[in-house]
Amino acid sequence: MAATARRQQLQDVALAPLDWVEERSGLVGYTKWFLFRKVPRDITWSQTLGSAALTAFIVQATTGVFLAMFYKPDPVNAYASIQSITEDVTLGWLVRGMHKWGASVFIILMFFHMARAFLFGAYKYPRELNWILGVLLLVSGMAEGFTGYLLPWDNTSYWATVVGININATGPFVGPFLAQFLQGGLSIGPDTLPKFYALHMLVLPGAIMALIGLHLYLVVRLGVSSPPWSRSAAGRERPEAAAGRDGVGEPTTEGESA
Ligand code: HEM
Repeated sequence: MAATARRQQLQDVALAPLDWVEERSGLVGYTKWFLFRKVPRDITWSQTLGSAALTAFIVQATTGVFLAMFYKPDPVNAYASIQSITEDVTLGWLVRGMHKWGASVFIILMFFHMARAFLFGAYKYPRELNWILGVLLLVSGMAEGFTGYLLPWDNTSYWATVVGININATGPFVGPFLAQFLQGGLSIGPDTLPKFYALHMLVLPGAIMALIGLHLYLVVRLGVSSPPWSRSAAGRERPEAAAGRDGVGEPTTEGESA
């Protein structure tokens, strides 16, 4: 009896900070709403690709912060600072490698996630707006890769950016203006690098974080869609299986009568 009372007391003490925050902000309630929600019982591993893309983005943001502490965004020092990160800074080679390879992982995961959403028909009503947000995320993610590519300021990155900007310049009406804006002048020069750096580490990550926030809000609000072959979503489920344990039913076997 005394042990139970002591446990209760300990629990109250441990939860006191959370109660304090909840009373003043309601944040604990929102977090529970976000984390503890029902999902269809026949969802698949492919439906974790969005979370995988989110994880890749978090890795990029975290490693990027550390790289920004040592990188120098001006044409005279940029390449030397990259070399110093790789060779002199403790674990710099690892953080740089994670950021460089992680960029490709992030883009690939976004494409896989998009393909999954497309093949499952998850872009249809009522998730059209989330698809549009996803397209904006894809464009921002690719722009993030493009602006990051120039930053080492070596021959590969310089000429790849020249090609990228020239392709943009061929676009109708806005093309030449876009190219001039990206270059910070009539050709790539000393003003291009700081501009790309500002876009790469402030504007685009900010936009991506805001878009991810909206995207996830809609995921929680609308719920995760069932796979196209879902028997329960099609209303072809045994009632006892649909009820199931804790609201999570037994999987139906193939060929079973409805
Ligand atoms: C930074 C990039 C992205 C992140 C972090 C992200 C994250 C997520 C997460 C966690 C989910 C819920 C779980 C899942 O279905 O995998 C989701 C669902 C969804 N995402 Fe993304 N996503 C991203 C990019 C995209 C792109 C590029 C598209 C398509 C153009 C897209 C379209 C959708 C749709 C339609 C859903 C609803 C799927 C359903 O209910 O079945 N997302 N996203």
